[in-house]
This record gives sequence, structure tokens and C-alpha cells, in this order.
Amino acid sequence: MLISPKSMLEKANKEGYAVPAFNINNLEILQAVIEAALEENSPVIIQTSEGAIEYAGMEYLGAIVRVAGELNDIPIALHLDHGRDYNLVKKAIDSGFYTSVMFDGSSLPFEDNVLKTKDVVVMARKKRPAIQVEAELGAIPGKEDLIHVSRRDAFYTNPEQAEEFVEKTGCDSLAISIGTAHGAFKFTDDPSLDFERLKEIKKRVKVPLVLHGASEVNQEIVKIANSFGAKLGGVKGVSNRLLSHAVKLGINKVNIDTDLRIAFDAGVRKFLKTYPKVFDPRKILGPAKDLIRQEARDKMRLLGSSGKA
Ligand code: G3H
Ligand code: 13P
Ligand code: ZN
Repeated sequence: MLISPKSMLEKANKEGYAVPAFNINNLEILQAVIEAALEENSPVIIQTSEGAIEYAGMEYLGAIVRVAGELNDIPIALHLDHGRDYNLVKKAIDSGFYTSVMFDGSSLPFEDNVLKTKDVVVMARKKRPAIQVEAELGAIPGKEDLIHVSRRDAFYTNPEQAEEFVEKTGCDSLAISIGTAHGAFKFTDDPSLDFERLKEIKKRVKVPLVLHGASEVNQEIVKIANSFGAKLGGVKGVSNRLLSHAVKLGINKVNIDTDLRIAFDAGVRKFLKTYPKVFDPRKILGPAKDLIRQEARDKMRLLGSSGKA
């Protein structure tokens, strides 16, 4: 059974650790993440973006994650990541697959974000059991818009607004902007996060806090990818030191996609270069799955979710 992330995140909030949320696009990534969670005895949130749904279809993705929930005796939730399209969010809520959705109104003016998020909360609360709603206040830059760190604070979450936003919308968790960015190019200079802002938000906001754009961009894995033909120059992520400090200050859900993508890329490239005569997809994808599983396990240990299933 897939479960609601409510109890997972509330426990994490109370005990001071974070639950990892991994983006999946296909069966292999899902299996690798689930194996990691089993090996670490960790709760896990599986999430699908609008892009993943466009690629593989909500029904296919929902079905494989449901099976993962039925076969494995650990807490697994299915979450819609960055739902910007109201109709898609509604479809996910009505599908019976998702136990949680994100409505991402972060590009909207404050009042519009409040109204639209509240609408989704009302719709999600009507379901039995209720579907959880993650909201976002303050934009987290995307892959397309690399913004110099000195200008990023224009996007950061305002702590007073965050308090008002959560009160007005009734959302179950809040994604905040404190300096992270999506993708593999997160920082043009020294990586840093606005920890003072995080502390202030944590004082004012009682629902679990979510950190997007949290991938480390593991340089060892990047090296493997590059040595087998990738051209990932200048990629830089959130160091383990910064991420574990963010968790210590109160982050309870951490979103990871890029780290799994780079692991997938490194595994496939290495295999294809090493075994040019092999064309069996099961063999080609095996090493990629292993690298993803290892990345996911490392993340669970770092976030403190290992042993919390
Ligand atoms: O938030 C972004 C996630 O990494 C999903 O990326 O939209 O390319 O699937 P995607
Ligand atoms: P990364 O690109 O850092 O992995 O972030 C993923 C994310 O925030 C998905 O919502
Ligand atoms: Zn995100």
C-alpha cells in the first residue's frame, strides 16, 4: 500500500531528520530507489514531475509505484512534483494513485498563489484518505535560468509571508527558496545557502519544510560520466555539509533528481564504452541501476532517514 507522507514528514519534523523524495521516470529508477530504501530501512517519497508524466504516462507510472507499495513493507508515498497545471493536479488527485501533490504557484503573485493553493487544498481534503498538499512560496530557479548567487535573494522566501501563506492556505508542507536551484549548475561561485532565513522560517512555520534543488552533483560520478564521453564541465551542487546543516535547521523533505540522472548517465556511458558488442537493454541498464541505488542510499544516510521505516 502507498501511504500518505503526512505521518512520515511529521515524524521527521519531530525527530529532526528529512525524508528523501526521488524523481522517477521509468521502472529502473524506481526499482533502484526502492532497493535503496529497503537496504537502508528508510521511508521514501517517490515523485513524478509533469515532464515524467508526459514521457511515461500517469497510469503507467502510478501502476508501477502502486506495485512497489504492495510488494514492499516500508513506507512509500507517491507525490506529484511541481504541479503547475491545475487540471493535471486535479487528475492526479482523482487518479487514486497519488497520496500527495505539489501545487507550484511560486511564479504567481502572492495573493493568486494563496487562492489557487487553497483551492487545491480544499479539493485534496475531500478525498478519503485525504491527499497531502505541498505548496511553494519563493521561486527556486530552474535549469534554464542560472542566476548569479548575488541576485538569487530576489527569489528567496520571505519568512513573514511564509507564515501568512501557510495560515491562509492550510497547505500540509511548504517548499522554500533559500539559495538552491534545480539541475546540475546550481552555483556560479562559492555554494552557500541562507541559513538565517531558514531559521526564521522554521520559527514561524509549523508544517514540514521542503528543500528542492538539493542534489549534490557528486564529483566522483561526474568524473566517471566525463571519462566515458559526457561533457559535464562546471557542474556544481549542494555539498553534503550544506545539506546536512539545512536538515539540522529544520528541512524535513529533500528533493533529488539530478543526482540520479547523472548516476544513470555515468552507468550507461561506462557500460556502452566498455562492452561495445552488448546490446541487451537489461545488461546496459544494470550498472546504471547500481549507481542510482548507491546514490539513494548515501542520501538516506546523510538525511538521517535510514532506520526510520
Ligand atoms: O523540479 C525538477 C525536477 O528535476 C523534474 O525535472 O521536469 O525535467 O522532469 P523534469
Ligand atoms: P535537483 O535538480 O537538485 O535534483 O532537484 C530536484 C527537485 O527539486 C525536484 O523537485
Ligand atoms: Zn523541485
